[in-house]
Amino acid sequence: MNTLLPVFLKLENEPTLVVGGGKIAHQKIEQLLKSKASITVKSPEISENIRSLPVKITGMAYQKNDVEGYKLVIAATDDEKINCQVYEDCQQFGIPVNVVDQPELCTFYMGSVFQDGDLKVAISTNGKCPSFGKYIRDHISNISRGMWGKALEKIALQREKIINFISSYSQKQQIMEKLVNKTNKEFFKKEVKQGKVFIVGAGPGDPELITVKGLQVIQNANVILHDALVHPHLVFDINPGADKIFVGKREGKHSVSQATIQSLLIQAANQGKQVVRLKGGDPFIFGRGAEEAEALAAAGIPFEVIAGVTAGIGAAAGFGIPLTSRNEAQSTTLLTGHQCEKNGNHNWKALVDLNSTLVFYMGVKNITEIVTGLTNNGKSGSTPLAIVQNGTMVTQEIFISTLENVEKELEGITLKTPAIIIIGDVVNHHKRLQKYVNSIPADYVDPVGDFGFDIWKNEVVVA
Ligand SMILES: C[S@@+](CC[C@H](N)C(=O)[O-])C[C@H]1O[C@@H](n2cnc3c(N)ncnc32)[C@H](O)[C@@H]1O
Repeated sequence: MNTLLPVFLKLENEPTLVVGGGKIAHQKIEQLLKSKASITVKSPEISENIRSLPVKITGMAYQKNDVEGYKLVIAATDDEKINCQVYEDCQQFGIPVNVVDQPELCTFYMGSVFQDGDLKVAISTNGKCPSFGKYIRDHISNISRGMWGKALEKIALQREKIINFISSYSQKQQIMEKLVNKTNKEFFKKEVKQGKVFIVGAGPGDPELITVKGLQVIQNANVILHDALVHPHLVFDINPGADKIFVGKREGKHSVSQATIQSLLIQAANQGKQVVRLKGGDPFIFGRGAEEAEALAAAGIPFEVIAGVTAGIGAAAGFGIPLTSRNEAQSTTLLTGHQCEKNGNHNWKALVDLNSTLVFYMGVKNITEIVTGLTNNGKSGSTPLAIVQNGTMVTQEIFISTLENVEKELEGITLKTPAIIIIGDVVNHHKRLQKYVNSIPADYVDPVGDFGFDIWKNEVVVA
């Protein structure tokens, strides 16, 4: 349990001492300067960065009892003896002391700080993980969006008038609570005048494959509508403050209709919200992003499409398959395997003549039709074929075969989905490179946390 007492010290013009003159000392001095403390730096070696700061420099080594007279002391040296001496001296004089990175030699910690005008929020992790404190601070900053400082300024002006006119404490409290709520609502409403939808490609599985732009719009979103194949880290961790609407659907189990998804997007944008429509892979590659874009345009909603790494490209890269390697393929064709069986949608002859690497999405169920379509039209039975399952995820696997052998070799094997089929000579590169290609997919959420539903299943949370 964290038993630390959070206090905000008044250090303006108070004598404070920093022992150490390097990079860490510099960071601590920068933090202390924000409190307008009168800082003395003691160290035989002082960095140029520190020299340029408004501090008093004593270019001498620390001597016993040098802390006397200071209100607060920070030790940031790499000399354990000095650090211990500083700590013991501070204990003797009753001075708060922080020896950097040595919790046992600290009587206080400096937390991660979010500041906006007069508003200051300090975060403590009880010395357990300062990086986590910084992560939380950044989230606070995302939620505040520079509005809280201004809101506080406005509330403070009104508060002055209120406290002069009302004497009852409980009445003052009630009025102030209402004022705070009203002011914050005003500020946040003002900020988002026009709603906008960002149709974002989340990439094929590994959450680190999202674009920087995609990540930024997630950070700033008010609401995120997400698909079944999007990694939970992108949906839940990046922006915990955003509303989440799961609108996933998997083949054969369309749980939320496309019309419902579109009207949810339009409704949220019409409320002035920044809406992220987060889709697996790339939104415009077998992703129905086009239908959503058309619906938004028809409703007069501004939108932006942010490309993602499509599954075929991500899965191939992860296993060292160069889709357009110049000696084996003149092009790469992305196809759906979904409709093969019904009406032979594909022009198999044309596909064979193309000398293209063929990448089939949603094709595993129809592998027989794909193999027959190609081999009956002249494609060699020895053409290599790869089935990449759960590409770019920690569970990714590759199955290698040829057009003529694949059905036989798949007997008794249950393939994981999602999976992609890659057909062409480029698959041979995998055999040569597999010992060395060492893709390590990121997985921030392992096992998937308890979100009240299983993100990988087809459950509807809001529809
Ligand atoms: C409806 S499509 C969506 C494709 C997505 N828009 C894209 O650009 O990757 C779904 C199909 O993509 C493929 N797929 C998606 N993620 C995959 C992954 N991580 N590994 C292999 N195939 C994947 C599978 O063929 C799956 O059936």
